[in-house]
Amino acid sequence: MKIAIISDIHSNLEALHAVLRKIEKEKVEAVVNLGDIVGYNASPDECITEIRRCATISVSGNHDAAVYDLASRESFNVFANMAIRWTQSKLSEQNAEYLKNLPFFTILWDRFIACHGTLKSNDSYIVKPFQARRMFNAMRRDYKSIRICFFGHTHRQAVWVRDVRGKVQQLNPHETTLILDPEKMYLINPGSVGQPRQNDWRASFIIFEPDETKITFHLVPYDLYKAQQKILKSGLPSFLAERLAEGV
Ligand SMILES: [Fe+2]
Repeated sequence: MKIAIISDIHSNLEALHAVLRKIEKEKVEAVVNLGDIVGYNASPDECITEIRRCATISVSGNHDAAVYDLASRESFNVFANMAIRWTQSKLSEQNAEYLKNLPFFTILWDRFIACHGTLKSNDSYIVKPFQARRMFNAMRRDYKSIRICFFGHTHRQAVWVRDVRGKVQQLNPHETTLILDPEKMYLINPGSVGQPRQNDWRASFIIFEPDETKITFHLVPYDLYKAQQKILKSGLPSFLAERLAEGV
């Protein structure tokens, strides 16, 4: 079995299409979307429509929630705020409703967790060891049989591991393929499809093969120029177009 794990599409239809073309070649049986379909870029309604068509499972990101929950925008910077107000005016009624009904996390096939930020919040980051340790502790307390959690939100590929003695560390993010040890616990971030922040502009995602406990990170080039032109024509801040080229 092969599963594609994607996250943080952020209204970048060109990046999403490039990733879906690659996923199609991989012949996956499921596509799991870890949230933030919208925000920042210029094709929010088209990206939701595409995700409704192709994703087996989706969870809600903080930008998805900010479309209907005004209070959750308080933590947004000025660019994120402008983009989400613009996004709100572009969504069809059905697609806005779809965002409203997304769960904040879900359990996949009784074996894995999928969330955007953490189990507690779609706006909490896992970037430091204490944050990873806290997440592992929550999993051990509430989901004893589950050893793997997929998360997004940071827009960077990451793998955190907890060994049987409780030692938590981050693995080298430059490894493209990883065989997971069934004795250990993992927090795995596929990076971002539509606004990567790892100094590489290419769209990022994972193929997960649960039977072999194997994950493979992918980086896919896409029509960056077209995505940027759409942003500029839409009246969104030009910085949002510029940052895509830098991968920041
Ligand atoms: Fe995001």
